[in-house]
This record gives sequence, structure tokens and C-alpha cells, in this order.
Amino acid sequence: MAPLRAFHEQENEILESTARVLKSGMWVYSNEGKALENELAQYMGCKRAVVVSSGTDALLLSLQALGVKPGDEVITPAYSFFASASVIQHLGAIPVFCDVDDKTFNISPDAVEARITKKTVGFIAVHLYGLPADMTRLREIADSHGIFILEDAAQAIGAKVDGRAAGTLGDLAAFSFYPTKNLSACGEGGCITGTDMDAIEIASKLRLHGETERYHHSLLGRNCRIDELQSSIVRLKLKKLQEWTSRRQEIAERYTDAWADLPLRVPYVPGGFEHVYHLYVIKSRDRNRLRDFLNERKIGNGVYYPVSLPGLEIFKGLGCHPQEFPVSEQCCREVLALPMFPQLTDEEVETVIQAVYDFHGSRGL
Ligand SMILES: Cc1ncc(COP(=O)(O)O)c(C=O)c1O
Repeated sequence: MAPLRAFHEQENEILESTARVLKSGMWVYSNEGKALENELAQYMGCKRAVVVSSGTDALLLSLQALGVKPGDEVITPAYSFFASASVIQHLGAIPVFCDVDDKTFNISPDAVEARITKKTVGFIAVHLYGLPADMTRLREIADSHGIFILEDAAQAIGAKVDGRAAGTLGDLAAFSFYPTKNLSACGEGGCITGTDMDAIEIASKLRLHGETERYHHSLLGRNCRIDELQSSIVRLKLKKLQEWTSRRQEIAERYTDAWADLPLRVPYVPGGFEHVYHLYVIKSRDRNRLRDFLNERKIGNGVYYPVSLPGLEIFKGLGCHPQEFPVSEQCCREVLALPMFPQLTDEEVETVIQAVYDFHGSRGL
């Protein structure tokens, strides 16, 4: 529903540009993809962006480009989307989970430091829901231990810390263009940015089968190309991103102001941080009843994420227990995402606000 409303906002332009791409006969990573790379680098204020087939591939190729090998340990938050950990295991490396910060839901720098061992080669800083992790502290930790930071910025395009964009704060960074993301394709896509130019160069080759020149392969890459239709669509949406981000922030402010006195936790944004509200997530002890109430009123909501990563079947073999990550476990029980996309009307925003009031038996607006 939300992605479709964004599509309708640009329907004519998108149909024109996809027709142009189809008629050009150039359908796989070519001029549109290269133009998108330049525009993304300019948008984020970095030297280079490398477009790929998905956010998951952006993470996987980044880890490979950063030199992660079987047996290496990579620290990642216990509370995130599956791909923030699965990519580590795909390379034969070991995901080491650490708990998140109670206020921001992002990886806790103290918890990261406590998990560093001789085998640790780096960590993944997920900017969950669109709020950057504490990159200043995390950078200090990474530098003092000589390990890398991979930003999982899948949910955080346009987010900033002290004016610097997510995607320029770690060694490498991965973005997703999945249809529900703030900057999206009408299909799959992703991109890699960062500050380690050697690693970006390696990643750019890895996505093209590790080719150095046609049919000469020096690296064990894969086919992680994005197609030209998706690149052309992401280019059109990039033109709208700033306006759409401001609208998300405006809606978030309305929710936060309205619910300040209710017994729930609204998103916390530390000074100097810019949140882009991929999701607007509250924390409530009465989450499940609130959810039922909103469902009855047909108000969209979602739980991201109902199970912590250490609690997933696939990671049981790592020998860690969800109870070791109490903040993550509490998030799984208490978080609830409320409607958040730029095309929400003021009337719809008011309906959401009123429904949350009504649930709490408040007087309303
Ligand atoms: C935090 C996070 N990391 C990685 C990904 C993976 O991105 P994609 O779905 O484009 O592969 C997602 C997508 O949902 C995500 O939210």
C-alpha cells in the first residue's frame, strides 16, 4: 500500500523512464546504474557509490571486500533484521551478538567493546529504523582495536550524525532499495558506499563476478548486478528523497508531541543526530493489546522484530542464549511500528494519533 502510493506520486515519470530503458535494449547494469552511482555519491557526500542487486548483497560483498574469512568473528546486534547476521555466516565467519542500547535500539558501544576478542575483525553498526548508531564512540572503539565498521544503513539513507551522512561514517556501508525503504526500487536493489576506497573498489569488482577485464577473473565474485529498470526508478525517487524525508520527520514530530504524556516510549533522538524514520517505533508494556486495538480499527502496524537474532533456529548452533541480551528481548516484546510513509495524509495521521489516545482511555485531541 505505502510503496504503491509512492509509485502513484511519480507514475507518469516512472512509466516514461521504464519505457525508455526497455526501448534502449540496455537492461542490466549500464548507463542508468552508473548515473545512479554518481547521484548517490553526491547525495551522501562521499567519493563513490557502488550499486548492487539488494541490501543483503551489499552487506555480503562489503564483508568480503573487507577481507572477512572463515573463522573470523564479526560482532553484530542481537536485535536487527536477519541479514545483519546471516551475511557473516554465509562467509563461514562467526556472528557474535551483542545487546542494543535501551533508548536508541542501536548497537551498544559498551556491549561491542566487551565482545571483542583476538578473532574479532570488525562489527556491523545497524542504523535501526533510520536512526544512526553512536558512530563517534564506535569509531573510537574500532580504531583502538584496529577493526572495521560496516554500517548496515539499509533503513537509514539520508540520516546524519553531526551533519555527516550515514554511509560515510564507517569503513563501508550497505543500503537497500527494497520497495518499503525510504529510497526504493519497484523491485530489488542496493548500494555500497564508505570511506575505505580500496575496499569499495574490490566490492565493485566482486559484484561483477570479480572481473578485472572481460573474462579475466581475479576475485571470487558473484553476479550482484542491479538492472537498469530499477536504477532508473531509484534515480527518479532520489529526486524526491529530501522532500519525503522531511515529511516523515514532520509526521514523527506530530506523533511524538501528541503522545508525550502517554505511558509509552516514543523514539529517542540524541542531540546532533538526524533520524529519517524509516519506521516510527514506540515501546509499550501493553504492546499486544494495543496491536489488537489498532487492528480492529484497521490501522496499519508491525512488529520489527518479534524474535531476537540469537533466538532464531539458524543461530542456535552458536551457543548463545536470548537471555544474554535482555534489552533486545524486551524490544521483541514491546516494540510496535505505527504508520509512517510520506504519502500519509494529515487526516490519516490524526486518525492514528486519536486511536492511540483512545486505547489509553485519554480524552483525545
Ligand atoms: C537492517 C536491514 N539490513 C539489511 C536488509 C536487507 O536488505 P534487502 O532486503 O534489500 O536485501 C534489510 C532489509 O529489510 C534491513 O532492514
